[in-house]
Amino acid sequence: MMDLEQIKQLDQKYYMPVFGERQPVCFTHGEGAKLYDTAGRQYTDFFAGIAVNALGYADAGFVKTVSEQAAKLVHTSSQFYNEPQATLARALCEKTGMGRVFFANSGAEANECAVKLAKMRAFKRGKKTAHFVALKNSFHGRTLLTLTATGQDKFHEPFEPGAYNWTYIDANDFEMAKNAINADTCAVIFEPVQGEGGVLPLSAEYMRHLASLCKQHGALLIADEIQTGMGRTGTFLAIEGAQVEADIVTLAKALGGGLPIGACLAKEETAAYFSPGDHGSTFGGGLLACAAANYVVGRMDGSMLARVRELGQYLKDALCALQDKLPSAIKEVRGAGLMLGMELMEGGKAAQVRGQLFQKGFIVGTAGANTLRLVPPYVISKADVNALLDALHKILMER
Ligand SMILES: Cc1ncc(COP(=O)(O)O)c(C=O)c1O
Repeated sequence: MMDLEQIKQLDQKYYMPVFGERQPVCFTHGEGAKLYDTAGRQYTDFFAGIAVNALGYADAGFVKTVSEQAAKLVHTSSQFYNEPQATLARALCEKTGMGRVFFANSGAEANECAVKLAKMRAFKRGKKTAHFVALKNSFHGRTLLTLTATGQDKFHEPFEPGAYNWTYIDANDFEMAKNAINADTCAVIFEPVQGEGGVLPLSAEYMRHLASLCKQHGALLIADEIQTGMGRTGTFLAIEGAQVEADIVTLAKALGGGLPIGACLAKEETAAYFSPGDHGSTFGGGLLACAAANYVVGRMDGSMLARVRELGQYLKDALCALQDKLPSAIKEVRGAGLMLGMELMEGGKAAQVRGQLFQKGFIVGTAGANTLRLVPPYVISKADVNALLDALHKILMER
């Protein structure tokens, strides 16, 4: 087996330089919420592979499901019927109240499908525009279309002119939304809690305002639940908790338990705007990813969601208590369920704190300008939370 230095050398020579200097570790295996590296060191994971590994690592049922499916059949293509795909489609429609689904391989692809479906609907209804609305600070993916949907200038410039015409509005600004959404608008896309942008929640009233403006102007509302969905915020979908009705919902991240899969769910009447040949994918909805996702969706029952709410509140309360103790270090604690952000004061340098936590054996993320992002596996324990908070307290006190 290679050591970290050998792996790093190969990476730096052969991998495209899009990730720069990665964090100095290579994990080899995990169990529950613990990860182990090439040197055998243990870490407690509050990052879950960017909000993916909701069940943690080496979940026995997940391993059994994936191993059994891999031993039977992995891929057949969209030309043939596929049982795990059909049952997953039913399970997701039943969980979300949507009518139909398309399976892709990633979040970006799920959003690509959503935007194309909205464009197809507009086209078939005689709308001759490609006007869409997205929020500033959003993140919707890295394909050309989803990159254009992403409301952050830094992603756009080199790839201009992008795809379709987008108006970017400030989150939670009611008036701006009213001025941006009009009869030309095909759809509005939003994240209930903006993840990559800095763990920035939208208010329930604002999301309902978007829904009512869309209805008024014949536009579709697309809820990007790629990060917030699958129970992450304490309900299966975050819009469920906020009582918001969307026409299209996208999922990915936690859906496959680590295997790549994305889902674009739409109401029956919306999905009906796609006809055979309008969209497709070679790998999308493959047997292995769908079998894995069936298992993960089955685990997102009432008790798992209650666990997310309870542990999320425990973690949030602990972060808020730390903020009370260290008001000059911590600016704000935000988020819902197990999707929490802690914004540091000016000069706090979230990436540095992340590095110091890593030295102490904790994996956390960063988001936005200066925010620590905590999106742990749902199997994290209160003892893990207490240990993280002790470490964080020491680090912030010494700064
Ligand atoms: C809200 C949201 N949408 C879309 C994406 C893109 O997903 P993927 O990286 O799987 O293409 C992400 C990824 O971070 C995301 O957080």
